[in-house]
Amino acid sequence: MKDLTNIFKSYQNMEGAEVTFIARVRSNRQGKVVSFMVLNDGTTFKDVQVVYKSDIIGFNDAQEARVSSIVEVVGKIINTPGKPQPFEIVASKIILLDQAIEEYPLQKKEHSPEFLREIAHLRARTKTLSAVFKIRSTLAFAIHKFFNEQGFVYVNTPIITSNDAEGAGEEFVVTTLEDTNYEEDFFGKKANLTVSGQLHAEALAQAFKKVYTFGPTFRAEESYTSKHAAEFWMIEPEVAFNSLTDNILLIEKMLKSIVGYVLEKCFDELQFLDNNLEKGLIEKIQGITSSNFKTLTYSEAIEILKKAVEQGVAFEQKNIHFGLDLGTEHERYICEVVNKCPTFVTNYPKDIKAFYMKQNDDNKTVAAVDLLVPGIGELIGGSERESDYDKLVKRCEEIKIPVDKLEWYLNLRQYGYYKSAGFGLGFERLVMYITGITNIRDVISYPRTPKNLLF
Ligand code: 4AD
Ligand code: MG
Repeated sequence: MKDLTNIFKSYQNMEGAEVTFIARVRSNRQGKVVSFMVLNDGTTFKDVQVVYKSDIIGFNDAQEARVSSIVEVVGKIINTPGKPQPFEIVASKIILLDQAIEEYPLQKKEHSPEFLREIAHLRARTKTLSAVFKIRSTLAFAIHKFFNEQGFVYVNTPIITSNDAEGAGEEFVVTTLEDTNYEEDFFGKKANLTVSGQLHAEALAQAFKKVYTFGPTFRAEESYTSKHAAEFWMIEPEVAFNSLTDNILLIEKMLKSIVGYVLEKCFDELQFLDNNLEKGLIEKIQGITSSNFKTLTYSEAIEILKKAVEQGVAFEQKNIHFGLDLGTEHERYICEVVNKCPTFVTNYPKDIKAFYMKQNDDNKTVAAVDLLVPGIGELIGGSERESDYDKLVKRCEEIKIPVDKLEWYLNLRQYGYYKSAGFGLGFERLVMYITGITNIRDVISYPRTPKNLLF
């Protein structure tokens, strides 16, 4: 029994060879002399066309096979140069292993993303979603491959934790019983789902120098945007002794490497998305691998945005000033309209960034970096970490971060801590960027947003 992907790999040398495989019916069309079944077993992006006549074993059942039924096919490979498909299978036997009902919801026609979200358990069978999830899987592998080759240790940080790593008050509380005391319900202690593994990763970077996490994170922001989910995956590398500049270099090197890998391994999928979803997608991706990203400071970004407002650009938030937490509209303007490429923005005001970021000498900004990309806005957020114990404690107190639960983290600064820098890459946003999908709900199999808990 062959996977169809193996037939695709070697059909050129298998002219006339007999193969047997099991697959799902995507369409089944009867002609006067010959009939055609288009099949896929899920191991290949491209479908296989099976040609059958009335003299084959199982013809009557084969004719009846409805969309989504499962069939076993025995047939010969015939190369068909010049036709849309490079080969077809001329069947000698088709067994209908399981007949699907007529009301199968995914009939061969265009379906809206909204409709497909309601059948999230089936939508990976569509061409678009199957391309997206395949690219997602390949990206995940490429990320592990990159960090492994760079000598990073892959670490797993806890999902249930007692701290709020971002200090933003967006944690989901963990409870054990229905009749619960939400304040202290993890066996008598207060626990929440992690919003970021960074603090734990920072500690591990002091042991291994270079570490990264890759896991689910949770944020209880009641956000209805197309790029926020309550559950999303984040990659968080952390490197001891690294500066902000080292961090920026690492981000660019990583993105170029993983995007190049996907371009090589998922070309069929990308081409499909380029034809059907985002014209020029492949060119965009090639651009990421071949041209340099740009860098500007937050203050420079503010000046650009002020000028844009003067020139009549219609931002919803027009009151541009130092201290503004940039919105998606501002981020996209900078990387999409002005720079037309991925853009690092550095040195944000300390009051709009997390407590752990290294404070700059100007006393106003921190050594933060966000990477903004066209179509998305913020893809990555990172920083050099505050390495001075006293400054860090003072900052926590200023912005009322409870230091009692963070003692272990603060103490790292007393046990030999020179510098450390890292970043968080939002995995779903990366998949959106690389596939051209514009809604985060369509790049994760079962999205968790305020309105999505069906599955
Ligand atoms: O900018 P954030 O909040 O940074 C951190 O969590 C740091 N601890 C990272 C670090 O330095 N180790 O989140 C990082 C990235 C964002 O740039 C964004 O891509 C993604 O995570 N992200 C989300 N993705 C989907 N849904 C949400 N609700 C997200 N919140 C953040
Ligand atoms: Mg951020």
